[in-house]
Amino acid sequence: MTEPGGPPDVRVFSDLAALSEATAAWVADELRGSAAARGRASFVLSGGSTPKRLYELLATRFKDRIPWRQVHAFWSDERYVPHDDRLSNYRMARDSLLDQVPIPHGQVHPMPTHLPAPGDAARQYEDVVTEFFSGGPPTFDVMLLGLGADGHTASVFAGSLALTSGRVAMAVTAPADPPERLTLTMPVLARGRRVGVLVSGASKAAALAASLSGRDPHLPGAVLGRTASALVWWIDREASSSADLNVRTTSQRP
Ligand code: 6PG
Repeated sequence: MTEPGGPPDVRVFSDLAALSEATAAWVADELRGSAAARGRASFVLSGGSTPKRLYELLATRFKDRIPWRQVHAFWSDERYVPHDDRLSNYRMARDSLLDQVPIPHGQVHPMPTHLPAPGDAARQYEDVVTEFFSGGPPTFDVMLLGLGADGHTASVFAGSLALTSGRVAMAVTAPADPPERLTLTMPVLARGRRVGVLVSGASKAAALAASLSGRDPHLPGAVLGRTASALVWWIDREASSSADLNVRTTSQRP
């Protein structure tokens, strides 16, 4: 686990399957630990395609290791499309995980995407999160994030106001399809008790190396790496292939 200002905690696996299995075991342990310590576990789900296998493992091999009735599911970000749209992060998590486990319906908190104005939806989600944390600073117990080939994470892209905003969630226009998105802001992402960033594939190698090296301090992945105090980079060998990934990594057997 990263210590503030310490070397990054980078764990390398042979491929996405091994990476997913190791991360699933970590998620299960951390959710169980949070529920035991605080009576509940807030779990932030990432979007994108990388976590799909991990979600499937949480719904099968690791299902019985997780106290689902004490888990609350949130999202790091969402594309502003209907929840049954193939691009919806909610739909991917629902189909690969949430419909397969006994998490109470009232404990699944998707980002709303049915309001005409995304800004209103962001404010509505802020209210949900703020109420969950009784008005205190949102400190999610377990947070999964991805990394884009351009170094974005969640839907916090380079130059975005969400990098430094004091808001909890924002509507943003992303340089990606679909452009309209909702996202938790970087300060909220960085405050997670346990944050895991999943990075798989050669297409992410440059963004990962840039995030870890701090060469571009404004890159969202670099900001997360610098400001999160409990962060693990879960990567596969292809993502670690950049020549200048000059950090100590812990190669793990699958
Ligand atoms: C999204 C995600 C985004 C994602 C990265 C990586 O809504 O797209 O939240 O931050 O995690 O873009 O995406 P892949 O896992 O598909 O490579």
